[in-house]
Amino acid sequence: MRRVYLDNNATTSLDPQVLESMMPYLEHSYGNPSSLHWLGDEAAAAMTGSRGQLASVLGCYPSEIFFTSGGTEADNIAVLGAARASGRRGRIITSAIEHSAVLDACHALKDEGHDLTVLPVDREGIVDPADLEQAMDEDVILVSVMAANNVIGTLQPLRELIDIAHEHGALFHTDAVQGFCRMPLDMRELKADMLSVSAHKIHGPKGVGALFVREGTPVSPITFGGGQEGGLRPSTENVAGVVGLGRAASLAHSGMDVRNGEMKRLRDMVIDEVCGIEGVHLNGHRSHRLANNVHLRIDGVNGTELVLGLSDRGIAASTASACSASSPSPSHVLTALGLSWDQASSSLRLGLSHHTSEDDVRYLLEVLPQAVRELRDAKRFNPTSA
Ligand SMILES: Cc1ncc(COP(=O)(O)O)c(C=O)c1O
Repeated sequence: MRRVYLDNNATTSLDPQVLESMMPYLEHSYGNPSSLHWLGDEAAAAMTGSRGQLASVLGCYPSEIFFTSGGTEADNIAVLGAARASGRRGRIITSAIEHSAVLDACHALKDEGHDLTVLPVDREGIVDPADLEQAMDEDVILVSVMAANNVIGTLQPLRELIDIAHEHGALFHTDAVQGFCRMPLDMRELKADMLSVSAHKIHGPKGVGALFVREGTPVSPITFGGGQEGGLRPSTENVAGVVGLGRAASLAHSGMDVRNGEMKRLRDMVIDEVCGIEGVHLNGHRSHRLANNVHLRIDGVNGTELVLGLSDRGIAASTASACSASSPSPSHVLTALGLSWDQASSSLRLGLSHHTSEDDVRYLLEVLPQAVRELRDAKRFNPTSA
């Protein structure tokens, strides 16, 4: 059976060139970067090299990059660390469709006595800058709004949101785990104070990420130990992972325009075709969306059953985020769009990569209608009379 991987918003394959760059640090160059001897020097040099690669991709100073264990930890340090560094109880503003790494960290701050404002989004998942303007006052410590959503792919008007936060003296963090190397993110132009990335969404290894912290931004550590990463993220460094992140970022960034162009073409081919099927709707914005994301609502179909039906046909897809796949409730992102429980439960996420071929898409377009028909027939659901 043909196998097609269309879950690239959950994770991506490891690029062989990335693996090759990591191998020396998994085999013979296993030193601790803090050690004073030659093996430690090799590891420290590898960390410096990767920091430089990431800094050049993001248009920032190497000293503004802090390696973490992934996007989750980067988000947690940004949110909790900024609140802690402020030395006061204030207000945190975020959006209703953030990843739980941000949303739950914000709720933890609320439990600690901070105020929390969760901004709504419109039907397409966009935060209205006017809502942020209205919510701002001098109590606000931090605004955290993601660059691109992991479920529906919607891109946010980041520049406007950042300007509003700064006009009121608040810090701005963006979770760019999905947007990194899939949209332009140059920190000389985008004035965010903090930005989170993760390697495994860009064909790098799992378990490594980074937080960009603009020079002078007050952030406190949230874990304690040795003084690694300027004391902001102590723990012996995942040298091979960090090397993989740097290499993956360089490769993905240099190929971004070409990769995005082709993914957009295939994405639009899927959207145009499947949205022609009765009772199939696109979630998220038609154009302000990630080049690799298609998110559908399919009347009369349970999303989980569809994912299993597609898996039987060799297609790997998902309903929403991988971390919420085992939860019986629909994704908070979908209910925030105003979808009912039923509508939110009828969803399918297809995540493309630059490895997705036109033949893969044609195979999807052949089997998806069959799988949908089968599930609808089993329920005697008729989309024309729904
Ligand atoms: C938007 C977003 N933020 C944060 C994360 C968490 O990243 P990681 O898996 O590296 O901890 C993810 C991963 O799914 C994500 O999509």
